[in-house]
Amino acid sequence: IKLQSPLFTNLFTDEFRFVQHLFEKENHELRFCGGAVRDLLLGKAPHDLDLATTATPTEMIEMFRKNDVRLICENGWSHGTVTCRVEEQNFEITTLRIDRVTDGRRALVEYTKDWYLDASRRDLTCNSLFLTMSGNVIDYFNGISDVKDKKVRFVGDPALRIQEDYLRILRYFRFFGRLKEEPAIPDESTLQEITKYGSGLGGVAGERKWVEFTMILNGRLLVLIMKMMYRCGILKQLGLPEQVDLEEFENVYNRSKHFSPNHMTLLTSILKDKTDLDHFMSVIKCSRYEYNVAKFIIEHRALYRPDKDMISVYVDLLVDSYKQDKNLVNVFMELMKYIGQADIMDYFTHFNIPTFPLKGGILKERFGMKGKPVGIAINFAFQKWKESRYKLDSEALLQLIENN
Ligand SMILES: *[C@@H]1O[C@H](CO)[C@@H](O)[C@H](O)[C@H]1NC(C)=O
Repeated sequence: IKLQSPLFTNLFTDEFRFVQHLFEKENHELRFCGGAVRDLLLGKAPHDLDLATTATPTEMIEMFRKNDVRLICENGWSHGTVTCRVEEQNFEITTLRIDRVTDGRRALVEYTKDWYLDASRRDLTCNSLFLTMSGNVIDYFNGISDVKDKKVRFVGDPALRIQEDYLRILRYFRFFGRLKEEPAIPDESTLQEITKYGSGLGGVAGERKWVEFTMILNGRLLVLIMKMMYRCGILKQLGLPEQVDLEEFENVYNRSKHFSPNHMTLLTSILKDKTDLDHFMSVIKCSRYEYNVAKFIIEHRALYRPDKDMISVYVDLLVDSYKQDKNLVNVFMELMKYIGQADIMDYFTHFNIPTFPLKGGILKERFGMKGKPVGIAINFAFQKWKESRYKLDSEALLQLIENN
């Protein structure tokens, strides 16, 4: 098929035409590939402009340098991707390649001029399409009809493709979330292959798994995908407990989704305790912030009582946390999203955190205090301040210290 829609013609900005012209002049073929083609077929404006070419990285670098085009992201060059920047637009261009040796984790790259070979090393049919500059879609593996029918399929034999790179299991689920519409029926034979080879994910670096997994957690159809991954037995490979309560996951998902929770907030619903979290952390090296979110929720989620007015309990928690570390405010808000009560969320969205009015210095000035008694007096005053619901000012607190 041939694309002529405005979405397609809009790709040809002045910046892009300039790049296109350089490739033409040197007789290198250039085509759109991957997500851009998929989006255009679905009638959406592509958000990434991925390009593929017969030029090698060395040829591209030389060509761009000769024409004073800025190059960025030099670390992509060794696996064939050159990114150039024209005005404010980046173009990521990858040399056609074959993945020669795969041990299930990484591939030795060999460049080629054969579009078919490049398409056949790609993981999913919906990602194996090319689009020429004149609008022809090049489709070797029924990618067009899979995109239109919203089918997520491996290119060729799923068992082989998974064993070449086990991370493809997670990519399968990620694109399932991207492409499918409800009711999204999974393909049983693919799930069987994933179940069969799922343990191979255990050998993939935690960082790589987390990149894919966070995209799944931030994507569509999440509850369904978590159920599929659970059925396939791969949660263990993601550092999660083998037995999890996915109904609790769905509950937390349902009540927090209006508040844009962090992905870690959702995931914490299936971590029972800090032991689960530390195990997760040892497999998936998540960020300090993500860890802190999960830890805070695990420590404090049991406070919640549906029959009690929770506002003052949470105000105390917030003031205490803020005193400990100002950065805990965002973490505290994640707990509120996890609890998922609209009135409580609303209260804290417009809440000014009371700040403790006393500093140690003033005690020295006023009473000549120093050393340990200062800490004791401060703690005493903090308690009194809290009991007053954060109303006492510094003068009143100094009075209390003096009289004590
Ligand atoms: C979550 O919300 C969906 C859609 O509204 C609903 O079908 C499902 O039953 C809810 N799940 C739970 C556990 O409440």
